[in-house]
Amino acid sequence: MYKNTSPLKFPNDFLWGGATAANQVEGAWNEDGKGMTIEDCLPYREVGVADFTKQFQFSSRDLEEALTAGPDANYPKRRGIDFYHHYKEDIKLFAEMGYKIFRMSISWARIFTDPRDEKPNEDGIAFYEDMFKECKKYGIEPLVTLSHYDPPVVLATKYRGWYSREVIDLFEKYARVCFERFGKYVTYWLTFNEVDAMLRHPVTSGALIEDRFADIPFEQAIYQAMHHQMVASARAVKLGHELVPGAQIGCMMTKLCFYPFTCKPEDNLATQQRMRSIYRYVDIQVFGEYPNYLNNEIRNKGYVIQWKDSDETDLKEGTVDFVSFSYYMTSCMAAETEGLDMAPGNTVNGVKNPYLPSSEWGWQTDPTGLRISLVDIYDRYRKPLFIVENGLGERDQITEDGKIHDPYRCEYLKEHVMAMSDAINEDGVELWGYTWWGCIDLVSESTRQMSKRYGFIYVDIDDYGNGTYNRYKKDSFYYYKQVIESNGEKL
Ligand code: BG6
Repeated sequence: MYKNTSPLKFPNDFLWGGATAANQVEGAWNEDGKGMTIEDCLPYREVGVADFTKQFQFSSRDLEEALTAGPDANYPKRRGIDFYHHYKEDIKLFAEMGYKIFRMSISWARIFTDPRDEKPNEDGIAFYEDMFKECKKYGIEPLVTLSHYDPPVVLATKYRGWYSREVIDLFEKYARVCFERFGKYVTYWLTFNEVDAMLRHPVTSGALIEDRFADIPFEQAIYQAMHHQMVASARAVKLGHELVPGAQIGCMMTKLCFYPFTCKPEDNLATQQRMRSIYRYVDIQVFGEYPNYLNNEIRNKGYVIQWKDSDETDLKEGTVDFVSFSYYMTSCMAAETEGLDMAPGNTVNGVKNPYLPSSEWGWQTDPTGLRISLVDIYDRYRKPLFIVENGLGERDQITEDGKIHDPYRCEYLKEHVMAMSDAINEDGVELWGYTWWGCIDLVSESTRQMSKRYGFIYVDIDDYGNGTYNRYKKDSFYYYKQVIESNGEKL
């Protein structure tokens, strides 16, 4: 239970809002010229919480099945919550809560039906343009992620995902169109969501399918693909600065946070190494060069990464303006884990912390960890920070009174807001804003369930796509409205 240690206070221009991603909300997977994405190919699988990593196993055969699947097959990302047809209604609800900012992502395959096309898909452009106008109508700033886990499927069918160097140019072409066409509406940009994620789930971030890499160690291919994504990100940052006056372009990290399980020096060393692995690619995006420990990691594994002469300059010239991150939970590290209880997370397992409560999905809630994370990141990078994901997935129910009572979500929000306030006022962290993840219920990334709900707005759909798609305000809707109205002072 977190209790604030200083009076609650936020800067007057603090950006409160909510966050989503195209592949988890839009649906309309094959409408108006949208090309297919890897996310459209991920089937719903009933796997247990502890087995969540199975969701990310994906073979050429899975791809083949997805490409030929009939209309009854359950691919939840294809329908999302049908935001594509409900965005006006949904943005109006965000405005009613008082959002100052709405984080969303653009689907690359909506802008280029095939990423190799010369010309963009004007229908796709019109959709986002209209969405941005709708946000502006209510004074909501869009915060745009260029790539949030949905590589076009062509990257897998015609290339070997981000391992193929050509993909850098394709991404740059896509980024250029976004900056040129949407720059007049959008100031805040992120290049890649959870940039380090490719190392944990290579297919959703990198379109990398392991069975296509018989010729080289798959891990080496991932490091190479990461390098290409770093270069692409840096080039996009540079381009955005040239094309969009006043643009603020950030990176986005998965802020996993680990505590040593005991005070044994070995557990502390394991924790330090784990924490460094979380920062390794963000270091590149902030400092413009590979840190020594990452170079050593790659070399000590016997891998060699191919560079082009221009890569060094690109990385140097494309450093970010701010650092954003997702934060959900913490867990522990131990040098020796045999016999210890493990806690699952969205992408990794850690040792279970006996002092923290867990959600049904095993995520351990820890507002203090948010404060610790804010301080650690700020001390490391000295850049403005932005919490672009934080939230609680629960199995909400509509009760007989037709309402959704979710006091657990209000409590989670309250404690994390307190922790942010202390980080700002006591620890001196520069924090620009906070966007609650899944501000409207959406399809879960790790489980592809609808029943794992994050929203302040309930969407009536189940894991199989049954439902009215109607939207309902949960109790937390009114709670967050009050938080925003009082600029974080009335909790
Ligand atoms: C983050 C992702 O890792 O966690 C989101 O950026 C994701 O896309 C979020 O939805 C919550 O995870 P999950 O698995 O509960 O959807």
